Amino acid sequence: MRVLVINGPNLNMLGIREPEIYGKGSFSALEDSIRQWCAEMGIECELYQSNHEGCIVDKIQAAYGHFDGILINPGAYTHTSVAILDALKAVGILTCEVHLSEISRREAFRQFSYVSLYAGKTITGLGFEGYREGLKWLKASV
Ligand code: DQA
Repeated sequence: MRVLVINGPNLNMLGIREPEIYGKGSFSALEDSIRQWCAEMGIECELYQSNHEGCIVDKIQAAYGHFDGILINPGAYTHTSVAILDALKAVGILTCEVHLSEISRREAFRQFSYVSLYAGKTITGLGFEGYREGLKWLKASV
């Protein structure tokens, strides 16, 4: 099974960025954990991070025919991006949405997720562990 893991804007700042919300672990620690979990689950993975909406759309489009699953934390684009939603719908790849924080208990503008309109599963509030849960769900759902 091949999974594309996409992290959106500002997730590269993990460890520095609002640690009381997102934790003290760095982005490279998150990527190391994801690679290790994938190896343990027999998942071949590619990791991608971008701060740019169009680059994320390009990456999703390029995944067509190459990946069986997408695990995505769209960051702030979660709440604004019809383009990312449309790209996911266009390629039709099984998708799990993940958020480090519990977005349902945060500001009103974080309560709505465009990506949730397509994602088969949404995992929130589990920190890094949410990515492991997402990978497990993808593996069980292909
Ligand atoms: C986030 C939640 C978003 O609201 C925020 O803009 C992020 C991170 C999370 O992982 O909790 O950048 O997706």
